[in-house]
Amino acid sequence: MRPQAPLVETDDVVLHFPVSGGGPLGLSRRFVKALNGVSLTVRPGETVGLVGESGSGKSTLGRALLGLEPITSGHVVFDGTSVSAGKRQDLARLRRETAMVFQDPLNALNPRLTAGEAIAEVLRVHRKVPKDEIAGRVDELLTLVGLGPSLARRKPQALSGGQCQRVGIARALAIEPKLIVADECVAALDVSIQGQIINLFIDLKDRMKLTVVFIAHDLAIVRRLCDRVAVMYLGRIVEEGPTEKVFSSPRHPYTAALIESIPEIDPDIPLPEAPMQGEPPSPMNLPPGCAFHPRCPHARQQCRADPPPELRRRDDHGWACILEPGDLPRPQTADRLHPAPHLQSPQGEHP
Ligand SMILES: Nc1ncnc2c1ncn2[C@@H]1O[C@H](COP(=O)(O)OP(=O)(O)OP(=O)(O)O)[C@@H](O)[C@H]1O
Ligand SMILES: [Mg+2]
Repeated sequence: MRPQAPLVETDDVVLHFPVSGGGPLGLSRRFVKALNGVSLTVRPGETVGLVGESGSGKSTLGRALLGLEPITSGHVVFDGTSVSAGKRQDLARLRRETAMVFQDPLNALNPRLTAGEAIAEVLRVHRKVPKDEIAGRVDELLTLVGLGPSLARRKPQALSGGQCQRVGIARALAIEPKLIVADECVAALDVSIQGQIINLFIDLKDRMKLTVVFIAHDLAIVRRLCDRVAVMYLGRIVEEGPTEKVFSSPRHPYTAALIESIPEIDPDIPLPEAPMQGEPPSPMNLPPGCAFHPRCPHARQQCRADPPPELRRRDDHGWACILEPGDLPRPQTADRLHPAPHLQSPQGEHP
């Protein structure tokens, strides 16, 4: 099978946020180095997970993919067209063909509109269907996300968190987007509801061949949902590949440490001994060499002195480290990433 053309591709994307301050007059410009050369490919129909500690640049990358954040250098190509120049017609196209699902479902919805009206609004603004077909399409979309028609008349305050998120997903689907970026879209929900929303994503991606970039802290969720995963550290992708390979045999010590740091649910088993020491360095003042070296148990002189390693690729599994595949032991906690009970197959969803 020929590999499909990418739907979205970033090439060496750098995104530095200017921040004021510093210097005797507070005039010198400093930068938060949020993205430092990110190259990522997302193919049609794929669900790609973005993981990494807080501040690693996941949301910034998600926003850059959607043209919501101007990049400092590099390229973002969407469906064959470079959109990084910020041309109005390119951005308009991105608006028409992409959608975002947000973390806080209640706040993402207009409190004055009912669920049905919130979905109808998207259909109207994007001129998706003729006026007289809007009501019918709203019903279809509600059904698609597992909400009964009676909920269409409720305002967000009268819906549960999970129901609000289903409305948010229906609004995203109303656009018929080529790409959805979901940024921590289940993090604010109860654990049992998280499972239902993940199952909804799994169902939708099978039925509608959705292309999704799924940003999440929870590695078990990413393992359940995503075909591929990219691990970010201080604005770089340090490892990328098929989810199963990355989680079962990580090639970057940062990925291994992330997996090792998954909390043990069984209270009789002691927590892993601080697999990852310290905090990430400041994104305003990145260390020389590999940015992970101050925390890396495998760091050598060249990791401190040489430029950060490029992503190397073997067997569709990329890693940015001097270690060779097999140098790292299989993480003891990798099995813990198998679906926890709340993430197992769909059953008895209540609308
Ligand atoms: N508008 C902004 N101005 C200045 N700095 C910013 C801005 N947005 C993000 N940053 C900084 O850029 C870095 C990356 O932030 P980002 O929100 O992308 O991280 P993240 O991986 O999504 O983190 P989290 O898991 O906490 O959501 C952080 O250091 C953040 O403080
Ligand atoms: Mg974020």
